[in-house]
Amino acid sequence: MEIGNVIDKNTSTDNSTSVKLPFDPLEFPREFRRHYVSANEDDICKMLDKVGLRDLSQLFGHIDPHLLFPHSLPLPEEKGYNEVAEKVFQISNLSNHKISFIGDQLPVWKTPPIVDFVSNLRNLSTSYTPYQPERSQGTLITHWIYQCAMSLLTGFEAINTSLYDRSFAIYEAITCAIRTSRKSSRILLASSIFPQEIQVLQTLSEETGIKFDFLDLDHNTGRCNYGQLSSFSIEDLNQYSALVYPQVNSLGLLEDVDLLTDFCDDNRIRSIACIDPFLLGEGGLKPPVEFGRSGADFIAGDAQHLAIPPNFGGPGLGIFGCRHNDENKSDLRNTPGRYIGQAKDLNGRDCHVMVLSTREQHIRKEKATSNVCSNQAFLATLAGASILSQGSKGLGEAVELANRNQQKVIDAIDSLEGIELAYTENISPTELSILTDKPASTLQNNARAAGIHLGVNISDRIKTPKKNVELIKLSFSNLHSEENINSLISFLQSEFSSALSENSKNSFRIDEKYLRRKPVTLPAYSDEELREYFGKLAELNVSPDDGCYPLGSCTMKYNPLLNDWAAGLKGFAEIHPQAPKEDIQGPLKVLHEIQEWFKGITGLSGVTTQPVAGAQGELVGIKLFQAYHRSRGETKRKFILIPRSAHGTNFATAAMAGYPDGIVYLEANDQGKIDLQDFIGKLAKYGDRLCGVMITNPNTSGIFETDFKKIADDVHRAGGLVYMDGANMNAIAGIINLAELGVDAVHNNLHKTWTIPHGGGGPGDAIVAVSEKLVDFLPGKQIIKLKDGSYDFEIPSRSIGSFHRNWGNFGHKVRAYTYLLRLGQEGIPRMSSVAVLSARYLFEKLKNRYQTLPIDVSNSPRMHEFILTLSDDDFSNLEIHGIPKNQAIPQIGKLFLDFGFHAPTVAFPEVFGLMIEPTESYTKKELDRFVEAVLAIKDIIEEAPYVLKTAPHFTPIDRVDEVSANRNLRLHETLNRLPPLPHNRISPAELTRLDVNEIKRRVIQLAKNNQGLI
Ligand SMILES: Cc1ncc(COP(=O)(O)O)c(C=O)c1O
Repeated sequence: MEIGNVIDKNTSTDNSTSVKLPFDPLEFPREFRRHYVSANEDDICKMLDKVGLRDLSQLFGHIDPHLLFPHSLPLPEEKGYNEVAEKVFQISNLSNHKISFIGDQLPVWKTPPIVDFVSNLRNLSTSYTPYQPERSQGTLITHWIYQCAMSLLTGFEAINTSLYDRSFAIYEAITCAIRTSRKSSRILLASSIFPQEIQVLQTLSEETGIKFDFLDLDHNTGRCNYGQLSSFSIEDLNQYSALVYPQVNSLGLLEDVDLLTDFCDDNRIRSIACIDPFLLGEGGLKPPVEFGRSGADFIAGDAQHLAIPPNFGGPGLGIFGCRHNDENKSDLRNTPGRYIGQAKDLNGRDCHVMVLSTREQHIRKEKATSNVCSNQAFLATLAGASILSQGSKGLGEAVELANRNQQKVIDAIDSLEGIELAYTENISPTELSILTDKPASTLQNNARAAGIHLGVNISDRIKTPKKNVELIKLSFSNLHSEENINSLISFLQSEFSSALSENSKNSFRIDEKYLRRKPVTLPAYSDEELREYFGKLAELNVSPDDGCYPLGSCTMKYNPLLNDWAAGLKGFAEIHPQAPKEDIQGPLKVLHEIQEWFKGITGLSGVTTQPVAGAQGELVGIKLFQAYHRSRGETKRKFILIPRSAHGTNFATAAMAGYPDGIVYLEANDQGKIDLQDFIGKLAKYGDRLCGVMITNPNTSGIFETDFKKIADDVHRAGGLVYMDGANMNAIAGIINLAELGVDAVHNNLHKTWTIPHGGGGPGDAIVAVSEKLVDFLPGKQIIKLKDGSYDFEIPSRSIGSFHRNWGNFGHKVRAYTYLLRLGQEGIPRMSSVAVLSARYLFEKLKNRYQTLPIDVSNSPRMHEFILTLSDDDFSNLEIHGIPKNQAIPQIGKLFLDFGFHAPTVAFPEVFGLMIEPTESYTKKELDRFVEAVLAIKDIIEEAPYVLKTAPHFTPIDRVDEVSANRNLRLHETLNRLPPLPHNRISPAELTRLDVNEIKRRVIQLAKNNQGLI
């Protein structure tokens, strides 16, 4: 197979474009490389030479040729840099902007300028999840700020950073309530939460045993039917684990949260309140801690609007919180997601660290509280900055302004005939629903012609007692100018005649009981102060821009600036997901093309672009399998085979999908691949009870599962289905045809292979591709191209439902799309090939000094990553010097920080392993420097093992005392001052400029000083 030349023919820099980029790509060395592959032709030839191969195609010589794509991918040819910029700009211009009153599920508010500034801090936006606290204080402190700010606004002591979105947060709160209430899996849902949320909850709960009952809507009040509460039997009340209710409901009305919370309290039902933090500022709505006599138990919400514009619906920012006070300490350990705690380093410096990790999938596997891994972390960073810039006063003022706008429109409606407020009591401060005898669609279309997106038709959310009327909900915010409000009023006046007699004036003051009792104090900081502060925070992190970021399994490659620029274009970023179809053609085109391209990239028949992270992609896959089996009447298939070395999310996903007891571990053979005998035995045992198999390929040891096809065929013969965890697609994209491999579903982590930035832990994204059998079951909407060239969407005939209120993390789709335009059909296999070559080159250079894992693997060449370890002698030597075997590998990881690198992945999938993945983003020179450093680390291990005790030495803090941070949990503070900043002893940028031997010398010297050895 020819996989393209290796010539570095940088594509043109023609100036024929009308687009002006806000940066000069030529100033960024990686930005302008062809296919974003940094190695040039000479580098590639030399690396091939080192690994004993003639050309890139030989890297895949150990794989059955029938599995390789025999032809180019059905994708467009690569485009020049400026050509791509021009193209995405043109596509963004297919969207239409109007004055918008849509809001609804995704309110839209002004974001302060600091948000833009922080988005561009590459060391914050591109760095990894802060598992190495010594080199991640930047991210940890931004998340800490978010946690504290949310704590102050809501009164909740424990807020995590973060979950995907509000629906997912509600679902996680439900499972948490079930675990902690020790009642049944019956849940009471207020019908007044968003219908799309209910759909997501139903999709997620399928086959889990969770059953929903509904608290009905009262058609007269537009709120929950509180009378129904007294009609539940004792038996029902004894069974309900939780009640889910909104503070502001889907009709824009305030629910009686005191009554609902007290009802839960009285009946030992856990209360899950859905909130909007934006409304909780000074003078704002009552925080959930004040609901009823003792506050709600859990909160769920979304804060995307605090961080970014609508972005066609995502990434969102799921809020989840629980109480953690003297009365309630037990919930916290049952909750999902990440928490940051205050800590001390070993020398008593204040710092921050992730706490409570023993609940999470990477440690607890199927016993974890959730399968969530990558979450919406960077949005939490942005939301924190946004809140600090506005303070509680600023938030209060924003809502006040929106409320004044709402009042003006109410006054105008009062003087018109044929239109009235649908409800005149308990109206939220920023929304209102109107009732009209004109068809809502006619009114919306007329408004559109007048340059207005009128709002959302909510007629199907409630049956009103009045006949032949429809309801439209309008949302107001501080984005509306006086002119915008006047345009809306003029439009309404043009549609409806003036009332003959003066209608009774509706004057609204929100009842005191819905407002906060105790003041909230969250100071605002100036833009200047925050810029300086966040700028310094960024310097505490390391980015893939700085050099090789060797985290195995994470594919920390270069994230092009062009992608971020494209995602920020007005025609993408500022488009509301509920806008009319005619005005969202730009986003739909991106989604359609990317949907079709991923069919080509995987070789499979169908694609959903909805899942927002790898773990959610896995869940989509298993839910699809379940639906397929159900459709064939095979409801006993409840077992799933997963290799022991799989990522924690695989096990946690299977448990979350409804198989906590159905997970069967597959063992590995001495070649580091699935042991066929073991597999055959287990297949025979579970045969007609088998749902499917979940295999990572290449596997987590960086080895291609050459028996995958046989395993897939056997599973299919037994009636099961095959999921491929595609986290490692960077090794095989454009090379291996997954249809030939026998894959039924696969997720593609966009934040790995497809270059979206990792964001310090997310947002991720995962496009799922499926085989023909599963196409009709896909969740969400399929985008279709009509004959006239426009785009529309439809729901697959037997869809399993929905995993997101809208289109998933759309902003990330734009990034991946822009990347794919640059790569084209030739670039994708070239990117994978150079990623594999880079790994093999490093492996070749390091294997003689380090032991490698799996031991004795001779005929399984490494793909994109490999695992190093120490020999027994090395471990014994370290033990003699007081470094126990179980601490040696994590401590070696810390030595990487001393050389200006991030640590490799430690202790996964092998407890004593250092997993290294270089990606294709680095030149041979950079890889050689990395090799030099890893060899210097080996010298240190052998010659000066005591260095490991004090590593790292140049980071802002020393090793963190995680045990005590977990024992004495401190999850929030007041933010009366900005959290103090630690300082780099030597910055990563400076370290990369230093000679490796010099670093080694300094490290040894410092360790000697620390140990009192000199
Ligand atoms: C092999 C593997 N599978 C699954 C996942 C989960 O993906 P995500 O973090 O996007 O949920 C990861 C993430 O690190 C992974 O490495």
